[in-house]
Amino acid sequence: MDKIIVKGGPALHGEVKVSGAKNAALPILASSLLGDGTSTYRNVPDLVDCATMLKVLNTMGCEAERLTGRQKSVCQVMVGPHITPEAPYELVKTMRASVLVLGPLVARYGRARVSMPGGCAIGARPIDQHLKGLKALGAEITLTEGYVEARAKKLKGGTVNFDLITVTGTENVMMAAVLAKGRTVLENCAREPEVEELARVLNKMGARIEGAGTSVITIDGVDSLRPVEHTILPDRIEAGTLLVAAAISGGDVLVKPAVPEHLEPVVLKLREAGCVITPQEGGLRCKAPKILQPVNVTTTEHPGFPTDMQAQLMVLMCVANGTSVISENIFENRFMHVAELHRMGADITIQGPTAVVKGVKKLSGAPVMATDLRASASLILAGLRAEGRTDVARVYHLDRGYERLERKLRGLGADIRRVKA
Ligand code: EPZ
Repeated sequence: MDKIIVKGGPALHGEVKVSGAKNAALPILASSLLGDGTSTYRNVPDLVDCATMLKVLNTMGCEAERLTGRQKSVCQVMVGPHITPEAPYELVKTMRASVLVLGPLVARYGRARVSMPGGCAIGARPIDQHLKGLKALGAEITLTEGYVEARAKKLKGGTVNFDLITVTGTENVMMAAVLAKGRTVLENCAREPEVEELARVLNKMGARIEGAGTSVITIDGVDSLRPVEHTILPDRIEAGTLLVAAAISGGDVLVKPAVPEHLEPVVLKLREAGCVITPQEGGLRCKAPKILQPVNVTTTEHPGFPTDMQAQLMVLMCVANGTSVISENIFENRFMHVAELHRMGADITIQGPTAVVKGVKKLSGAPVMATDLRASASLILAGLRAEGRTDVARVYHLDRGYERLERKLRGLGADIRRVKA
C-alpha cells in the first residue's frame, strides 16, 4: 500500500487545476444505460471510483472505457443490445455508488439485480429511500442473498416524498422516472450541484426534468433517450480542499476552475477564519491570514456546509487562535480523522456528533493512517502545517476521490511525495 510523505513548512503559492467532479461523474456514467449507442463524457476525473463504475458497466455488457494519451480525461460508454442488468457484490462492495445503476436498469430493462452496498467507514448508509422511490414508481423489490432484485414491466409516474434528504437516492429515483409512463414528482430532494448536473445530462438525452437543484423535481416520462456528449463540472470538494491547503500553509493560491456559488458555505467559513478569498480567472484565489480565527460549523445538506469538507475544515481549526465547535449532522461516524490528528498534537474533544477543537500553537509530524476518503485529505493538509515529517498510510482511500493530489500540492511548493509500497 502506497504512503504519502509530507514535510511541513512551505507556504503554498501559484495556480492549481481542479479536476472534474467525482460525485457528478458517477451518476452520469450510470445514466449512460438509459440511452442507446455511445455516450462521450469529458473531464471525467481519473479516480479509482470512476474506474470501478466503468468496470460495473462493462460487467453488464457495455463497452465502457477511458481514452488514453491527451484524451485521457474522456470516457466513452457504448450501451449494446445485450445487457445483463446485474451489478455483482465483488464490485459494489468496493464502491457503494454502484447502486446508482439500479434506477436506470429497472427503467430501461424492467429488471435489475444489484448487490446491497454494505456500510462503510463513515456510517451504515442504508438505501431504504432509493427502494421506497422505486416502489412508488411500481417496481417490485425483493432482497435475496444480499442482492436487491427490482422488477417492473413498465414504471409508472408517481409521487415520492423522501423521508430524508439523500443525494444518490434523489439521483437513482430521478433516473428511474425519466422512462416511466406519466409524471413523477419527487419531494424533499437533495439540492446538490451534482444532482443538477445529472438532470442537465438527462435533459440533453431527451428527458423532461424540471426543478433539479430545488427540493421538488418534476419528471415527465419519455419513451427513449439518445446518447449524449457532456463535459463534467469541476469538483467543488476538491476545490474546497485546495483552498484549505492554501489557508493552512499560510499561502496564496489560485484554485481553478471553480464555481463560486457551489462553494459558498465553504468560502464563507474560510473568510470568517480570516482568509481573503476572491473570484479570479474562473476560479477562486485564497490568501491565508497570519493568524487563523476559530469558526463554528454544522454540516447540513446543500446549500449548507458540506459534510465532505468537515474533516478538512477541522484540521484548519486545529491551528486557529481559539476554540471551534464542529457538528457532523449527516453521517454517524465521520470523526475517524480525530484519533489520527491527536497523534499530531491536535486538541479535539468529541461529544456525540460534535467535536470541540481547541487551536494549538503547532502540530507535530507523525506516522498516521487514512481511514476514509476525506479523512485522508485532511491528514495531508495537517502534514502541510505540522513541524517535521508526516507519513500518511493507506492512501488508497485518497485515490478514490482525488486525482494525484500530491502532485498538485507539489506543484504549489509543498514538500510531498508518494512512496510506492
Ligand atoms: C453522497 O453520498 C456522496 N457520494 C457522498 O460523498 C456525500 O458525503 C453524501 O452524498 C452527502 O453529501 C456520491 O454522491 C457518490 P446520502 P450518499 O444518501 O448519496 C442516510 C465523498 O466523500 N440515508 O445523501 O450515499 C445516509 O446514511 C462521498 O465523496 C438513509 O438513511 O449520501 C446518510 O446518513 C462520501 N437512507 C444521509 O442519509 C437512504 O436511503 C445522507 O446520505 C439514503 C441515505
